Amino acid sequence: MGKRFYITTPIYYPSAKPHMGHAYSSIIADFFARFKRIDGFNVSFLTGTDEHGLKIQRAAEKKNIEVLEFCNEISKTFRDLSKTLNLTNTDFIRTTEDRHKKSVQFLWNKLKENDEIYLSKYSGWYSVSDEAFYNNDEIEEIDGEKKVISSKSSVEWVDEESYFFRLSKWEKPLLDFYKKNPDFILPESRKNEVISFVKSGLKDLSVSRKSFSWGIKVPDDDQHVIYVWLDALTNYLSALNYPNLKDDLFKNFWPASIHLIGKDILRFHAVYWPAFLLAANIELPKKVYGHGWILSGEEKMSKSKGNILDPIKIIDEYGLDPLRYYLIKEVSFGNDGNISQERLEDCINSDLANNFGNLCQRVTAFVDKNCEGKIPENILFEKDDLKILNRYSDNLEVIRNNIDKQNINFYVDFIINSLFEANKYFNDQEPWKKKENQLRLNSIIFTTLEIIRKICYLLYPIIPDSSLKALKIFNIRENQIDLSSIANHNFLNKGNDIKKIDILFKKIIKEND
Ligand code: MSP
Repeated sequence: MGKRFYITTPIYYPSAKPHMGHAYSSIIADFFARFKRIDGFNVSFLTGTDEHGLKIQRAAEKKNIEVLEFCNEISKTFRDLSKTLNLTNTDFIRTTEDRHKKSVQFLWNKLKENDEIYLSKYSGWYSVSDEAFYNNDEIEEIDGEKKVISSKSSVEWVDEESYFFRLSKWEKPLLDFYKKNPDFILPESRKNEVISFVKSGLKDLSVSRKSFSWGIKVPDDDQHVIYVWLDALTNYLSALNYPNLKDDLFKNFWPASIHLIGKDILRFHAVYWPAFLLAANIELPKKVYGHGWILSGEEKMSKSKGNILDPIKIIDEYGLDPLRYYLIKEVSFGNDGNISQERLEDCINSDLANNFGNLCQRVTAFVDKNCEGKIPENILFEKDDLKILNRYSDNLEVIRNNIDKQNINFYVDFIINSLFEANKYFNDQEPWKKKENQLRLNSIIFTTLEIIRKICYLLYPIIPDSSLKALKIFNIRENQIDLSSIANHNFLNKGNDIKKIDILFKKIIKEND
């Protein structure tokens, strides 16, 4: 089946409508999925909604709606958002689906069989907002209310019978695994946080709740529902039809290439999830990447702070590709980033409209006038042409390696420099002064067209629609994009017609312009 790549987003809580933070996780995952696809990989890309637990049950109760009905409604807004964001996910999983419930119960039984689960009693703090158990030393009191120090969410005291997972026993195997697989947790700074958390000692983890019913029942004990994180994490397997190990999806795509998540849920993915998998004798995912937060007014978005940014509003105003471009370029991947309308408008005007859109427009207009609207046939590359073309063949492997390290900043910088150099090359070569020397004029134009093609390929994972619009110049369609051909300088069919295209990006007129 060739090269395979399995990427996942977190599955989102349908407790409220999606916001920019959710859109960010999904857009980044789509960027990687598209890149790998044009690089010849067979890609599985999973997203979905995480629908059980007290958080969802209470959100539904607040609205006075039956829980499943409530989930159906909000899960649909996440599914719709996937379409609006032009995601190429190959599946959308809901944890209320039967296929998922079966997987979770199977995994539970497996853990039970392996003596990894035992019945006891949990007495301690629980945050419904984080769906997490906390120790005393992770709690502080603010204005008489107990809150989690890290997330600032409120906690309540829980005292109930519960099944426990023997997490403590996996402390050493996990540390060994991190050591042997230095790229398992990225970025590096976050890895260190996880390692010190594990080194500080792991306690057994409560993995069932008895005081409410909205969840997947513990097999053979329907008084308990399975802890929502054990339930949710299993989605990465259930979408591949686990436990059907002979199923093609499972065989081809497990272990996952990368779980892309936000930094706030790293502990669940880098500690609990690998421990569950080790305990069930299932191979571990290759990588967990914890990205930063999208901040609104320098703070994490939350309903209680009232600073939620709505991706749909921004898309309505500026279009999808500008938003995708902005989030991928301006939020330094791995770190937090603030959304600014000013910077978004700058991206549109300078990078997209001027450097990219204008180049396409200018060059096609020139071909129309001076090359009979065709890709020149008779050409002879000179040193200057080869110098700029070789940038792509020389860097193809470097680009792949950087993407495999999730170095999005490198990738975007490469494109921005390419655009800058392409414009400079066209200006410096002055083809309009070469009308007496058709061979030279042809060669400059051919070179510039090749560069535009290569840049469109590179832009495709970031701004797919606009890249495809620009590729219409050459009549190249989506399924024909092949990354490796950026190393080929004679890809374009000489003598073929060049199509004129509409303006790709409209410049934003700023108030102080
Ligand atoms: N349901 C769990 C994930 C289970 S995965 C097995 C969850 N859901 S969530 O809806 O609260 O968050 C989903 C993702 O969105 C998380 O990765 C979280 O980090 C991300 N974001 C939520 N707010 C965010 C920002 N403001 N910025 C960037 N990402 C943020 O956690």
